[in-house]
Amino acid sequence: MSKIHYMKVLLGTSSPQLGARVAKSLGLGILDCEYKKFPDGEFYVRVRAENDDVIVVQSLRSNDDVVVLNLIFDALEDCNITAVIPYFGYARQDKKFQEGESVSIRALARFVEGYADRVISVNLHSEESKRYFNKLKEIDAMPIIGKWLKNNFDDFVLISPDYGSYERVRTSAKYASCEFDYLEKKRISAEKVEITPKEVDVRDKVVIILDDIISTGGTIVTAGKILQEMGAKEVYAVCVHAVFANFALNKLYQSGIREVVSTDTIEKITSKISVAEEIAREIAKKE
Ligand code: R5P
Repeated sequence: MSKIHYMKVLLGTSSPQLGARVAKSLGLGILDCEYKKFPDGEFYVRVRAENDDVIVVQSLRSNDDVVVLNLIFDALEDCNITAVIPYFGYARQDKKFQEGESVSIRALARFVEGYADRVISVNLHSEESKRYFNKLKEIDAMPIIGKWLKNNFDDFVLISPDYGSYERVRTSAKYASCEFDYLEKKRISAEKVEITPKEVDVRDKVVIILDDIISTGGTIVTAGKILQEMGAKEVYAVCVHAVFANFALNKLYQSGIREVVSTDTIEKITSKISVAEEIAREIAKKE
């Protein structure tokens, strides 16, 4: 990839490894940036930005991440900012479900776009949320997940835990050259709901459940149990964004999931697939 000499990368507090990978991939330097947290919980940010063009890499997994990003933006006054938000939190509140509610993703989109000249993110949770952005380029991690699966597993079935993730799974399966399906919910009676793969027989097969987000882990635990009951030989779980709220990883492994793998949009022990090259490619498109 060709060098972009005038740009530097600022590693946000939530994405140091991915930020460094993006910088390496583009052949760019890393900005000198100092972070502090005061005893009362307030943050301090100081950036020595001798460049006009700065790429900020900061996932928004928590409220602290939002505050730090705000301070980074403020410190970068007069710079052109490319905001790389690999995981864009708050995207589940993408409309008013009840009168008087804030549309959280709209508020966050306005905040980020108020400072940034370009915004790059990975698999936003909903289509709906994208309409609040004007400068957003979204990267789909499904092709690289598919390629990674192809290189790391033999003979497996890719399963979406619900119809909502079916298209994503279809894309990954194309790159993995594997069978794919989704779990379908059928109402048998007023009391009974049956959840089974729509068409594929998972008996004695290696099954990989793929979703965009694992938050509490509830969706994957339920799907994994069903697939194990149906005779799957081994069940794995893969996701883009490893939110892992409330000890989700413990729940997943306790439920019999063999291994959990994620991308590095949120940096976790499970982050075996990097989206750095895709982000670097999108940044380089400016040239
Ligand atoms: C749902 O629409 C998403 O694709 C995920 O399935 C969901 O966010 C996962 O949440 P949890 O891990 O809490 O079940």
